[in-house]
Amino acid sequence: MDYISRFLKKLQAQGWLDKDKALEIDKLIRDAKGSPDAEILQRIAKVKLLTDGQIGQIQAQLEEEESSGMEMAPKATICYIKDVVKSYKTPEGIFQALRGITLSIYRGEILAILGFSGSGKSTLLNILGLLATPDTGSRIFYNGTSYAGLNIKERDLLRRKKFGFIFQESHLLGHLTTVENVALPLRLQNYSNSVCLERAKHILLNFMNKAEQENADIFFSKKPNQLSGGQKQRVAAARAMVHEPEIIFADEPTGNLDFDTGQMVMEILLKAAKEKGTTVVLVTHNPSQARQSCGRFIWMENGLLKKNLATAMDSTLRLMKQLSGKDLRTR
Ligand SMILES: Nc1ncnc2c1ncn2[C@@H]1O[C@H](COP(=O)(O)OP(=O)(O)O)[C@@H](O)[C@H]1O
Ligand SMILES: [Mg+2]
Repeated sequence: MDYISRFLKKLQAQGWLDKDKALEIDKLIRDAKGSPDAEILQRIAKVKLLTDGQIGQIQAQLEEEESSGMEMAPKATICYIKDVVKSYKTPEGIFQALRGITLSIYRGEILAILGFSGSGKSTLLNILGLLATPDTGSRIFYNGTSYAGLNIKERDLLRRKKFGFIFQESHLLGHLTTVENVALPLRLQNYSNSVCLERAKHILLNFMNKAEQENADIFFSKKPNQLSGGQKQRVAAARAMVHEPEIIFADEPTGNLDFDTGQMVMEILLKAAKEKGTTVVLVTHNPSQARQSCGRFIWMENGLLKKNLATAMDSTLRLMKQLSGKDLRTR
């Protein structure tokens, strides 16, 4: 298949090719017959049939297929990153926390990122979530938008509207009640006070247990210092979802909780995400959690993805057993 045909196939898989657009692009390609591929793509961009970001994302995906000799699954990627590098200046010199990460995140999937402490998981998540910037040359596309092309205002807007975050620490604001904390992402988008509170209560109820629901108003008006660790993380999970983000970045959200509490927080978060079709990227060092709740998992080591080792959960578990001397199947 020639390059343009493969390009169109990818476009289709992304869901970016409706009937009208397909016809227009077809015509443009026929008119441009004999021109180099790059020029055809330029023309498509020029008449705004596709954005530069959409074209860039598909070009990067095709590039990866060519270099790996493998065709990627014909699924829509919500996020595609290629050759992402992140260096820090340290007193000892430049330290590369990420050394060239290429990764597809498929729409609606629950993806676990596993790896030992220091392997670069948080760095990667922060970059994906627009909380940190990678080195130049790294390419990141979010649903056809290139991060490199965004100004600060556009980055803020994308992050606030489309992304939800949950970290190991709940990061609740101490002077606000649970409901006010949950409402924060909506406030940042300038919804009215009443809409903010109503939606916050509605989502928070899903993250409360029976007893808490029966005395909902009491729970709603509690301050963070009146909450247990598990309650705080459930409030943080509600806050991550209140604005109906497209993707949730979760960085060891149950890392500070005991096993059962962590399990419960994870279950309601992922249940809510699955119901809404929200994509979740979950960083965890708990393989049994990843195995239970995630559709796919990747293994990070020293700033690199170890693709071949993580093709099956069992091999990840075996690897961790070898490395740690413990059998994690029996947690
Ligand atoms: N601001 C920073 N300055 C220097 N080194 C950093 C900084 N942040 C992270 N690192 C280093 O980058 C590596 C990856 O860190 P991190 O992404 O937090 O790993 P993980 O989340 O997998 O534990 C670690 O070696 C860490 O020490
Ligand atoms: Mg981390």
